[in-house]
Amino acid sequence: MKARKHTARARARRWVRAMVTTAAGLFLVTGRAADIEHGEALFKEHCAACHTVIGSVRDKSGPNLNGVVGRKAGTEDYGHGYTEEMMASGVTWDIATLQAFLNAPALMVRGTKMVFRGLPDADARLDLACYLEQVTASDEPTPNVLCAVER
Ligand code: HEC
Repeated sequence: MKARKHTARARARRWVRAMVTTAAGLFLVTGRAADIEHGEALFKEHCAACHTVIGSVRDKSGPNLNGVVGRKAGTEDYGHGYTEEMMASGVTWDIATLQAFLNAPALMVRGTKMVFRGLPDADARLDLACYLEQVTASDEPTPNVLCAVER
């Protein structure tokens, strides 16, 4: 009986330790609220030459990014036409997939015609993805937890 109790307590302790480690890990990964203004500045600097986020505006050389968060890749009515690779990628754009794409577009969607080397800074990728979510959401956006976590 006694031994059993000990085992249960040890298991509980292991569980608590695992949870604390996981929480610490999450904090390291997402322990910073997204800076939307910085995201906007990054968009202007790196993306606006080829993309607009305003729905009523014609496509530039890249597809219109209005409402991109929550959309399947390659499904916008895009005048210049997507690559087969983008249409077949099976990706749905959300905060996580946008961050992965912006890290290295051609690695995530091999054969994409988007000529952009990527943003090496993880905080910058988060800021930009969260800016895109906020600026392009149709109605009331549900803020993504990845964008909202405070430092
Ligand atoms: C030199 C022009 C250019 C630049 C710079 C550029 N893009 Fe693109 N982007 C494109 C093109 C062209 C496509 C279509 C790619 C394809 O079909 O393979 C695209 C596709 C995309 C898609 C997929 C859209 C969809 O409807 O599936 C996203 C998201 C995207 N770009 C985001 C960005 C962001 C964010 C930046 C800035 C960091 C950026 N792009 C910079 C040209 C560009």
